[in-house]
Amino acid sequence: MYSLIRTTSVLVAVLFAASTTTAQQVCNNAEALCSKTYDNLTHLGAHDAAFVRDSSNAFTPAGNQFYNASTQLSYGVRLLSAQAHNAGDGVHLCHTNCLLYDAGLLSDWLTDIREWMDANPNDVVSVLIVNSDNNNATTLGGIFNSSGITDYAYVPSANKGPVTWPTLGDMISQNKRFVAWVASLDPASNEDAPFLLDEFSFIFENQYDVTDAGSFSCDSNRPTTDTGNALRTGMLPLMNHFLDDKLFGSDIEIPSVENADNTNKDSGDTGNFGDAANSCIAAYDRAPPFTLVDFANVGPAIDTVDRLNQVSGQTTGRTPLPTDVAGSMSS
Ligand SMILES: *[C@@H]1O[C@H](CO)[C@@H](O)[C@H](O)[C@H]1NC(C)=O
Ligand SMILES: *[C@@H]1O[C@H](CO)[C@@H](O)[C@H](O)[C@H]1NC(C)=O
Ligand SMILES: *[C@@H]1O[C@H](CO)[C@@H](O)[C@H](O)[C@H]1NC(C)=O
Ligand SMILES: *[C@@H]1O[C@H](CO)[C@@H](O)[C@H](O)[C@H]1NC(C)=O
Repeated sequence: MYSLIRTTSVLVAVLFAASTTTAQQVCNNAEALCSKTYDNLTHLGAHDAAFVRDSSNAFTPAGNQFYNASTQLSYGVRLLSAQAHNAGDGVHLCHTNCLLYDAGLLSDWLTDIREWMDANPNDVVSVLIVNSDNNNATTLGGIFNSSGITDYAYVPSANKGPVTWPTLGDMISQNKRFVAWVASLDPASNEDAPFLLDEFSFIFENQYDVTDAGSFSCDSNRPTTDTGNALRTGMLPLMNHFLDDKLFGSDIEIPSVENADNTNKDSGDTGNFGDAANSCIAAYDRAPPFTLVDFANVGPAIDTVDRLNQVSGQTTGRTPLPTDVAGSMSS
């Protein structure tokens, strides 16, 4: 009898400890991010996230990332961009055109992301779809709906910024933790897909096709070149930070894989991600909520993002990957 009571009370104590542990909420891999609003933290973004170079395609130079969407997410990426193009059987993700690199159906990619979100209920995820063939909100919204990801979609109070964003903790507790940006989509025509947000009604971006490590800039390039006015009107900065190489004797640009270690590292040399972020924070007097890098595991770029978010050494639940180009290409 004594031992039964003792066993029961030990069991209760163990269960109680377990439940208090799970009650301690973690948002996007860090407890401290739960109280941050969506626009007041920096998201690590994988540029052209759908265009993967790996052993299955002989490390095609048209690929911008080494790992697919779910692996990127498990690593800590929280914004994934891709280009949507019309192909024979629907909307595909293709790099520049579908003959160069066809990563398959947008609906399949969104389904992979939705499945990852099903398994990771404490994470807020964003996508940025480049609407290359100007599909309307009905077409794109139908594809999002078919993937099931719309159930998680957050709809802000207006379809044009600035708006007040909730904290990650609120988005997670309401299970509205998916944000869908589209570049571009007429903001007046998304009644049946109000979760599709026209990027340039909320966000401005710096220059993207940079081919010289000394030429990264924080100046707004799209939709306006008036950085000061963009900030004053509450537009959110997106910091592109990836380097291209011009293919010899042509205007064709491909991701500069040989410079990726330098491009994505925090500090110390020309063109580093962290130094560029520091410059942009000074220029904007705020941190950029969004970043986009190629080869997102390299650098590691995530160290800079953790530093900006003041969660260095306090993160949990990520799957490590090789952080140098050589390691990524051999694994
Ligand atoms: C972000 O939050 C900090 C406090 O954590 C505050 O000082 C800062 O003004 C906020 N910035 C923006 C752009 O919301
Ligand atoms: C993504 O890559 C991982 C390995 O990195 C693999 O296990 C998974 O099946 C891939 N997912 C898809 C949808 O191909
Ligand atoms: C959206 O585009 C589709 C395909 O091009 C077209 O059939 C449909 O009429 C368009 N809908 C609206 C509301 O414009
Ligand atoms: C997407 O699904 C929502 C919710 O079921 C529905 O209201 C909306 O009309 C759908 N939109 C499209 C474009 O299919």
